[in-house]
Amino acid sequence: MAGRIPQEFFDQLLGRVDIVEIIHSRVPLRRAGHEFMACCPFHAEKTPSFSVSPRKQFYHCFGCGSHGNAIGFLMAYERLEFLDAVEELAHLAGLDLPETTTSDSASALPTKRLLEWISQADHFFRQQLREHPLRQRAVDYLRQRGLTGQIANTFGIGYAPPGWENLGKALNGAGANSADLIAAGLVSMDEQGRARDRFRDRIIFPIRDRRGRAIGFGGRALDGDTTPKYLNSPETSLFHKGSELYGLYEARTQNRQLPRLLVVEGYMDVVALAQHEISYAVATLGTATTAEHIDRLFRTADDLVFCFDGDRAGRAAAWRALTVALPFLRDGRQAGFLFLPDGEDPDSLVRAEGQAAFARRIQHSTPLADYLFDELRGQGDPNTLAGRARMAELARPLLEKLPEGHFRDLMQERLRKEAQLVNTRLRPPTPTAHLTEDHSLRLARTPVRRLIALLLYRPMLAQQTTVEDLVLPDDNRPGMQLVANLLCALHSNPELTAAALLERHRDTPEGAILERLAAWKPQIPDEEYQFEQEFSDIVATLKRRDDLPDRLPDLLMGRGTARAFSTEEREEILRNLLKAKRSN
Ligand code: UTP
Ligand code: MN
Repeated sequence: MAGRIPQEFFDQLLGRVDIVEIIHSRVPLRRAGHEFMACCPFHAEKTPSFSVSPRKQFYHCFGCGSHGNAIGFLMAYERLEFLDAVEELAHLAGLDLPETTTSDSASALPTKRLLEWISQADHFFRQQLREHPLRQRAVDYLRQRGLTGQIANTFGIGYAPPGWENLGKALNGAGANSADLIAAGLVSMDEQGRARDRFRDRIIFPIRDRRGRAIGFGGRALDGDTTPKYLNSPETSLFHKGSELYGLYEARTQNRQLPRLLVVEGYMDVVALAQHEISYAVATLGTATTAEHIDRLFRTADDLVFCFDGDRAGRAAAWRALTVALPFLRDGRQAGFLFLPDGEDPDSLVRAEGQAAFARRIQHSTPLADYLFDELRGQGDPNTLAGRARMAELARPLLEKLPEGHFRDLMQERLRKEAQLVNTRLRPPTPTAHLTEDHSLRLARTPVRRLIALLLYRPMLAQQTTVEDLVLPDDNRPGMQLVANLLCALHSNPELTAAALLERHRDTPEGAILERLAAWKPQIPDEEYQFEQEFSDIVATLKRRDDLPDRLPDLLMGRGTARAFSTEEREEILRNLLKAKRSN
């Protein structure tokens, strides 16, 4: 993950782009009063309930509850990760992402330079495959593995020639210093302090990020004796084996639509499958499947098929993938498992039996639900009560990982049948960010919430009050610290839109509240003076604190507040208190 991007950048970015334009180019919008409407792209509907507010720079669907700013829309619609969505928007707005540096000091190389050297290395390796005197060795190897030049080209396969300082010298010539190349994982220092190429006499598989930029390499030895068989780039700020997937970029660019991804184990599996027109395979980089992998995969396709060896190690890896995938299985997504015959991998199998037969295997992969219950049945004898109870006991924590939805309900129902037990109730699911109904309508319209909603709707209103006037330093009324934050932000930058205010609170509890309040429609006529009136009314209400009597001595003396009462105000307060006392 790159370093932190400063807040000002998000403010600038969200001030520069127009969410209406961004959405309209993907989902045609129709004007409806002050807003724009369309049928929601995130759920099936016939009458439009998806609204986009140019003023708030925010979208909200009253049908499925999805909502967000321009960044959130791109994440959801283009299935981008946060930073990728930010980059995409920055690109549209003609802004450069601020230079972020890595957090580990050992490789404190700016991302841009790191990418530059890796990209140059990528070119170098491909050029060597075309031009090096020993290129025929590499070409023969690839040919013997059944690959054509075209597929090698699609994947940008290259060749690192034998020798200690080919790449190092080439990149030094291009202006790189050794420290940079070490940080990029391209060379290492030997005991004598000489820079040595990391990849020597190996076939090179570049590993690309979502945007197609090389971020690391895998290198395969050309013979059977060299160890390790595969050598990978070390972890850098850009390259994390636990979250990258080899072939994901290529799968996305080779397919217009990508309903399914096949998850395999090796580089050669991905490339060989593509050679046989199965161009939607990706590989983990020699690590077990992680939640980051699954998250990335489901952002790209709704149907994942995990392909493993049929041996014990393969089964263990499959089970692990299953447990990791469960929390991501919201309705509309599915996962299947494909176990290969002993001693085969996708590469050997697709070459032996061809595209159609392999595609049939994928088609007939075991659905996750069947695999899960098959495994559990092996754990407890279904013919005995104790065995079935044990099965239910093992199943419950697994099924509880599933997000709310029909699939979860079906799995619970299936467990009840399989275990023939009555009590298989699951603990309620943890709420997910994806709301299925419009919960925003159910939030009571308290004064604080109305004030926040108004600030999101008309950020300029913030200029009508000061923080000190409204919020006391120790103010513990719910929401008042959030009000203070919003006011501070708007006083130092009156141009902020609701979208920018939301961005400051992304992935926080406050952010969740703000998103819900941003979906509110004002319940007053849409006229500027009405908003101002409403705002000052609420401000007046909030200033009338109900714990006043307790705080009175302090207040009257001007302690703990930024503002003491005037003589007239003090007199009035005392008069009122005396009146209240007499009537008791
Ligand atoms: P395998 O050993 O199953 O090899 O490693 P493979 O993919 O079938 O390779 P070929 O067909 O012999 O060329 C699977 C994956 O594990 C990682 C690599 O990512 C490889 O693709 N691996 C394996 C390593 O990182 N280092 C190794 O030495 C071996
Ligand atoms: Mn293999």
